[in-house]
Amino acid sequence: MEYITLNNGVRMPQVGLGTFLIPKENLSRTIAQAYEMGYRQFDTAWRYHNEADIARALKSNGIKREDVFITTKVNADALYYFGYWYGKHSIINVRSFKPVSKAIQESFDNLATDYIDLFLVHWPWPIYRKMYKQLTKFYKEGRIRAIGVCSCLPPHLEALKEISDVVPAVNQFEISPLNTQKELIKYCEDRGIQVEAMSTFSHFRSNMPRNEILENVVIQPIAEKYKKSVAQVILRWLIQQKIIVIPKTWNDIHLKENISLFDFALTDEEMIIIDSLDQGKFLNYNPYNAFRGLPKKYKDWKGF
Ligand SMILES: NC(=O)c1ccc[n+]([C@@H]2O[C@H](COP(=O)([O-])OP(=O)(O)OC[C@H]3O[C@@H](n4cnc5c(N)ncnc54)[C@H](OP(=O)(O)O)[C@@H]3O)[C@@H](O)[C@H]2O)c1
Repeated sequence: MEYITLNNGVRMPQVGLGTFLIPKENLSRTIAQAYEMGYRQFDTAWRYHNEADIARALKSNGIKREDVFITTKVNADALYYFGYWYGKHSIINVRSFKPVSKAIQESFDNLATDYIDLFLVHWPWPIYRKMYKQLTKFYKEGRIRAIGVCSCLPPHLEALKEISDVVPAVNQFEISPLNTQKELIKYCEDRGIQVEAMSTFSHFRSNMPRNEILENVVIQPIAEKYKKSVAQVILRWLIQQKIIVIPKTWNDIHLKENISLFDFALTDEEMIIIDSLDQGKFLNYNPYNAFRGLPKKYKDWKGF
């Protein structure tokens, strides 16, 4: 396993297992298989309602806490009585019933651990800065090894400086050959923020893969050349950009493929070919619609 050193010196495995929507009955076996194959990083979130299952799976498979890197996330859903929906136009059910610190603590309880390796704010909600501020507190108390954000654009990242002196260690956001996010990747790299790719293959909130990506006719010949799958070529394209990847699967063949990425390398030309597929196409929520709650001076951002 290759490791990436984050801006505070913490080492993070470059390949992890995404766990969103893995059926509960498959989770324990998948985690055991993944660990056996060499996975040492697991990505979860309060919102996935599987943190406690993951803790149980690690324990029942005899995997020691200190041998794995766990990422989790704090989400607005954890704070409100009803579903918290934040789309382009509205925020509903904004009556909070618990403080952010309690929502963060719940992840510790669910995961049955006294420390979390990486704790992210799940989305740039209008209250994401409040969440980051609390994560900063836990971090400074030594309970979280690294903190970060998800789907943050430059205005979101700049506005964090007003409430925390801790530069996010990681920004996790959607990257795929159809949404290469080159400018945001560079922006983060220039500031020491490690990029982590999510939702590279999937349709949002679905277990269906995106065939336009996994059966991409431009990538297929590259995959054939290396005797790898299209998925592996795409993950390798990310790895060569020094990006952390967390593909989700509970299929043993895919699990094995997704960690077998270090015995081949794409040429510069092949990297450019994949880059050229970019359409700026989001399939997850689009963070360009998530500026509500930011001070006005940040909302005036004109884009890259
Ligand atoms: N921060 C956020 O807001 C956020 C949002 C979304 C996701 N995430 C994190 O990122 C992780 C990954 O994203 P995701 O769950 O959206 O899905 P994903 O990993 O992009 O895609 C999963 C899909 O890809 C298929 N797949 C995986 N490996 C494959 C392979 N080698 N060959 C062919 N198909 C393959 C899976 O099918 P099979 O089951 O058939 O393999 C599944 O349909 C999540 O699990 C979660 O941990 C974070």
